[in-house]
Amino acid sequence: MRIVLASSNKGKIKEIKSFLKGWEVLSFDELIKPFEVEENGKSFKENALLKARAIYNALPKKEIVLSDDSGISLPILNNEPGIYSARYAKIGANDKENLAKLIRVLKEKNIEKTPAFYTAAIGIVSPFGEFSVHGWMHGVAIDEALGDKGFGYDPMFIPEGFNLTLGQMEEDEKIEISHRTKALKLAKILLSTFKGSK
Ligand code: IMP
Repeated sequence: MRIVLASSNKGKIKEIKSFLKGWEVLSFDELIKPFEVEENGKSFKENALLKARAIYNALPKKEIVLSDDSGISLPILNNEPGIYSARYAKIGANDKENLAKLIRVLKEKNIEKTPAFYTAAIGIVSPFGEFSVHGWMHGVAIDEALGDKGFGYDPMFIPEGFNLTLGQMEEDEKIEISHRTKALKLAKILLSTFKGSK
């Protein structure tokens, strides 16, 4: 059985495909006309399952659908941007605008450095049922952008145990410790239990 990703984001697809080696993985827009799913859940888990369920119901036959919802949270800001990470500056904002807004908010509050964490929720909707798993990466957020690697909020995030921001670290170093990798490891275990699926 194959895995259909509820995403058209090329970066995510590449990362998930390389992680799920041995499985046939494709994006939902290779099977049906792409459409937007409103992410109006109250948690990463709810949003991940919303996306996966919408694609599952739209596919012509029952398949394993996997989605990912992620973001960065700062306890000092009541865990903002959290589930609003992708639209923190405004609806439709790009990564640069969202990063600039979070830096501006920290500067306005005179916060140079503060604990922060990334969350990734993976939702799986399948003929075997609905499941979700999570992964986290803890560290600190700083009030400036350093480095141009990674994406999103990476230039302002220093992972626990490191001196560099994710924007300054190599991609493979980030993948080893990332929230998405941790969640994908659990998702892989779950997928391997689906009877007759491989
Ligand atoms: P999603 O595509 O709706 O899950 O939105 C995820 C948003 O969270 C992205 O727009 C990024 O801003 C942020 N984000 C999630 N994971 C990462 C990461 O690994 N690095 C940097 N930003 C991330």
